[in-house]
Amino acid sequence: LIHLLSTEGLSKDILTHILDTAANFVSVNDREIKKVPLLRGKSVFNLFFENSTRTRTTFEIAAKRLSADVFNLDIARSSASKGESLLDTIANLSAMAADIFVVRHSESGAPYLVAQHVAPHVHVVNAGDGRHAHPTQGLLDMYTIRHYKKDFSNLRVAIVGDVLHSRVARSDIHALTTLGAAEVRVVGPRTLVPSDLAQMGVRVFHTLEEGIRDADVIIMLRLQNERMTGALLPSSQEYFKAFGLTAEKLRLAQPDAIVMHPGPINRGVEIDSEVVDGPQAVILSQVSFGIAVRMAVMSIVAGNEA
Ligand code: CP
Repeated sequence: LIHLLSTEGLSKDILTHILDTAANFVSVNDREIKKVPLLRGKSVFNLFFENSTRTRTTFEIAAKRLSADVFNLDIARSSASKGESLLDTIANLSAMAADIFVVRHSESGAPYLVAQHVAPHVHVVNAGDGRHAHPTQGLLDMYTIRHYKKDFSNLRVAIVGDVLHSRVARSDIHALTTLGAAEVRVVGPRTLVPSDLAQMGVRVFHTLEEGIRDADVIIMLRLQNERMTGALLPSSQEYFKAFGLTAEKLRLAQPDAIVMHPGPINRGVEIDSEVVDGPQAVILSQVSFGIAVRMAVMSIVAGNEA
């Protein structure tokens, strides 16, 4: 693996190797991660052309835990605002001896373009491109599911909400089907569920009640209003009534079901606060596990594994 651009096409062996590598970075209390010298002398450039709280910060922490030097380009204050192209930006940062580019961009495919133009010793990690893919989120979601449920083969996983605009949903579906989840469901209003999902091996539901019944894992997604045109935009109240996960509706799932969300959360829109703050939510564990998973990804693409 030279770049990580998508979970699509990654074999079960590679996915499992990434999860196992991440597990080696996590200490017994599942929180503490020791600093290791695997990327000492390497430079990681975080290029976030779209806003981020979790992904950008955990990539920075992960790179520091690997002893890399980390540079966060402030895109709003960069010369991108003067019209410098993405590829010219990359060429100039490459001249500063970058080893890994972590790229988030609103345009689907932008990290692929970067990967095609960097020198062979430089690695690109997709931190979310448009509605296409968010592979490290997909991987940290798999890490979280494996942590709580141990084995994928008996699991019913429901992905609920605005799947149409969700790069997380796509990355999760590819990883879950490859890792052998028993059933992957997608649940949402007809306007927010893409039509090509049956080809991806998932079952589609258009009511929350049916979609989460007996589920072992529920992954909630926010409405990605920034990617919607007016016709698609449901009102928050209507949406919450039909697809908002409340404690009462959660009782339809398995009693030990876990509730996940990639964040950011919109409380009272796709999920009720009682669920976010309740005992079945593992949303903040997902964030914590993201550090070890991103350490694993960067050490593997750089060829500097433990
Ligand atoms: N899950 C996720 O990508 O969150 P951020 O947009 O805050 O990075």
